[in-house]
Amino acid sequence: MDKAKAQQEIGRLRTEIERHNRLYYVEAKPEISDFEFDKLLERLIALEQEFPELVTPDSPSQRVGGGITKEFPTVIHREPMLSLSNTYSITEVTDFCNRVEKLVEAEGGGTPEYVAELKFDGVAISLLYRDGLLVRGSTRGDGRQGDEITANLKTISTIPLRLDSPGGSLFDSVVSGEIEVRGEVYMRKADFDRLNEERPEEERFANPRNATAGTLKLQDSAEVARRRMHFVAYFLKGIADESTPHIQRLQRLESMGFATGKHYKLCKSVAQVAAFIDEWADKRHTLPYETDGVVLKLNDVTLWDRLGATAKSPRWAIAYKYPAQQAKTVLQGVTFQVGRLGTITPVAELKPVKLAGSTVSRSTLHNFDEIERLGVRVGDYVMIEKSGEVIPKVVSVVLDERPEAADAIEVPEECPECHTKLERPEGEVSWYCPNEEACPAQRRGRILHFASRNALDIQNLGESLVAQLVERGLASDAGDLYKLTLEQLAGLDRMAAKSARNVLDALEKSKTRPYARLLFALGIRHVGAATARELAHACPSIDHLREMGEEELAAVPDIGPVIAASIRDFFAKPWAQAMLEKLAKAGLPMQAGAAKALINNNFEGQSVIFTGGLERHVRQQAEEMVRERGGRIVSSVSKKTTLVVAGSEAGSKLEKAIKLGVKVISEDEFERML
Ligand code: IVH
Repeated sequence: MDKAKAQQEIGRLRTEIERHNRLYYVEAKPEISDFEFDKLLERLIALEQEFPELVTPDSPSQRVGGGITKEFPTVIHREPMLSLSNTYSITEVTDFCNRVEKLVEAEGGGTPEYVAELKFDGVAISLLYRDGLLVRGSTRGDGRQGDEITANLKTISTIPLRLDSPGGSLFDSVVSGEIEVRGEVYMRKADFDRLNEERPEEERFANPRNATAGTLKLQDSAEVARRRMHFVAYFLKGIADESTPHIQRLQRLESMGFATGKHYKLCKSVAQVAAFIDEWADKRHTLPYETDGVVLKLNDVTLWDRLGATAKSPRWAIAYKYPAQQAKTVLQGVTFQVGRLGTITPVAELKPVKLAGSTVSRSTLHNFDEIERLGVRVGDYVMIEKSGEVIPKVVSVVLDERPEAADAIEVPEECPECHTKLERPEGEVSWYCPNEEACPAQRRGRILHFASRNALDIQNLGESLVAQLVERGLASDAGDLYKLTLEQLAGLDRMAAKSARNVLDALEKSKTRPYARLLFALGIRHVGAATARELAHACPSIDHLREMGEEELAAVPDIGPVIAASIRDFFAKPWAQAMLEKLAKAGLPMQAGAAKALINNNFEGQSVIFTGGLERHVRQQAEEMVRERGGRIVSSVSKKTTLVVAGSEAGSKLEKAIKLGVKVISEDEFERML
């Protein structure tokens, strides 16, 4: 292809790709499958590789990331990025409105109007566009100066690299010159759960906001791209008509290609504001992302400057935060859980209490520093809290109601399971049971991890079965699982012959998983699923890995000295060596490409649902084909679903999938995956 033709084709592909991006992410009305989309992108990247001089900064190819940033340059914000004053009380919202009304009146204006928006729980950023082109993106930082993270932000599909303008021409008055867009980067709940599932327990993020903040600071933009973040815009500055009210600015942002969340409302009275707050109190939990309140802004932007700001926040806006749902109950006792790595976790045993629709009777206290921080004793009344869909936690003690007999919580001297004396390594907050080889709790934990979904995904191997296997001495590690017989399994409690058969089948199937999954399943400290994939890539066999020195390991991408040392430690342990031997003997994939091919494993680890009419397959057969290839069929769409095959006239399940951000493919693409 000559250059002129290539240029034309590149232009066509870019427009097409950005259009589909927008249909998918902003409008939730995809017209093509992910597969077809990837094909368009691949074609663009191939052409740009052939003609590198045609690459431009706004090309969608720039979204896949790949650049490594060593240090982020500092950006001084042209105007400080203020935060909002917060309140939990509707009365204070009313006070705010009254104050604004007085000020507006003094300025000679009429009754003010407000725009009520949802308060997105993510990370604030600022984007700078010059003549419609994204030139810089930065974090809020301390409000005055932040980090320049353009490369990372470019990977976010809902951040336009080039602005659309309603007229179609790119350089008309609407987007010429410089404009600044501010908004929030966030992670959807489903993507957050998926990200956490892939990480080693000790490195999981506490909530989507932390995960977003951590991701934006990554130096490897390709990893940022993989984590699927989103952007919602709530502020536009720099357009020609400075008097354009805020609500029209939001609409302008939408026509430029931004998502605004769409759930904003023009309110003409305090009563309407209160109604909006009320309306979203529960409804917000149905959104695929987390929100923690409502932001109220004066619609008349010309008044913003006149009202001004205090040192920290503007006088023309306020944030109402929904109170976290709380309940009072009694701490009846504390038990100690032993994790697969020996970590002791104190667990609050609570008097059962209803909170946000479910009954809560246990909650983690994390570690002994947390117990000290709370100052909690057994017998105390405690407040527990649930924000969003997060697991409840103990937030405070009701000291006024402390009973006389409340007992302090002591660190146990020995492991509740194997009675070995506990240890606390220097500089760590947690206590550990050092009996890693023989402690039954650690054995159970390791086996359950080995069988978990992202590891070898051994179905039917649940907690109660594993507990019996360990207790009866039938399995001390994952290697023993492969020696189990039908009789042994059928002889266990609550095990019919059929379930025993299923377990053996599932074990057989686990031998066909890829080598990288086995590496993750071994449960090496600090080695999560992503690290295991990198390792598998760099060291294509366990024998090879066993021989590698710490320095050699630390040279693998994603692996620093701590992980390298942990891998070395693991291979030096006699029990780990014994387990590896058993696994090798059983025929597990000890090297890349070693998995026995059944048919193929193209649906491995996927939870799949079919919806709508298929043209070329009978539903049951299609489902069977997924199972044969390692996938699981589920009956309803949830955040755990990983793939939806949508046929003709797919309805509510498809809608739900899109809402939850689950991947959707067509029947054509399904065939290609087979
Ligand atoms: S307006 C001058 N609108 O809340 C204030 N902020 O404490 C500009 N936030 O830093 C912010 N949703 O990270 C605004 N619809 C929304 C918002 C929002 C979330 C965050 C933002 C800001 C913080 C304010």
